[in-house]
Amino acid sequence: MISIMPPIVELQRVEKAYLNADGVSRVSVLKEVSLQVEAGDTLAIIGPSGSGKSTLLNLMGALDRPTSGIIRLEGKDLTQYADAELARVRNREIGFIFQLHHLLPQCTVWENALVPTLPCPRQANAAQPGEPAPERARRLLERVGLSSRRHYRPAQLSGGERQRAAVVRALINGPRLLLADEPTGALDHASAQNLVQLLVELNREENVTLILVTHSLDLAQKMRRTCRLSEGRLIMVDGLSLLQP
Ligand SMILES: Nc1ncnc2c1ncn2[C@@H]1O[C@H](COP(=O)(O)OP(=O)(O)O)[C@@H](O)[C@H]1O
Ligand SMILES: [Mg+2]
Repeated sequence: MISIMPPIVELQRVEKAYLNADGVSRVSVLKEVSLQVEAGDTLAIIGPSGSGKSTLLNLMGALDRPTSGIIRLEGKDLTQYADAELARVRNREIGFIFQLHHLLPQCTVWENALVPTLPCPRQANAAQPGEPAPERARRLLERVGLSSRRHYRPAQLSGGERQRAAVVRALINGPRLLLADEPTGALDHASAQNLVQLLVELNREENVTLILVTHSLDLAQKMRRTCRLSEGRLIMVDGLSLLQP
């Protein structure tokens, strides 16, 4: 049987406009953005500050809705979903990592890793259906080198360790899509390189599509594809044109 998988993410002529402070006029941040990302791929999104990278990632992650256009996740049109359905999609199918780790300060690494499983603790995850959440947490913490830190609180960790804990939390429910918004922005050069290398390895091992927003061309080049946001439009760039200013 031939099965044709839809792209994991597909944007068709997506526009996003925000209201200005006057409450009347609007500023268009994304203009007719179209994009297809195949399952299992790695994609970097680059562009100057304020160009709409976070806006774009939040739309792909069902954290926000477009002003117009269509956003599909594995063929399902998210713009048709009610808020409760979008919340389920975010919890089950998408993992997020941000510049700041957003770990709960009063919880240990272990507890933080399991927080996303709380809405439905016994639900099998999509990636490894037979793997219970605590088993998966143990395995992922071991994989990212945090086993010995599992009873630490975030304040007792280095910046790199906090981000690795955030990676485990993002992957705990076996998402199909991992969205990382400048996850290395607060890290030193070596920790940034290590984190992105880890994300690339997990992309393969956990079969999770990776979309990385970054300022660093160096890090962008670790992804198979790169696109640049500029003046509300998205342009695919190849390795050579990446190097040009
Ligand atoms: N909720 C919002 N309301 C109004 N304007 C916003 C909002 N979020 C972002 N913007 C504006 O949209 C533009 C793009 O922001 P953002 O997506 O955060 O860019 P980037 O992540 O590339 O730095 C900026 O000019 C920003 O001020
Ligand atoms: Mg941003």
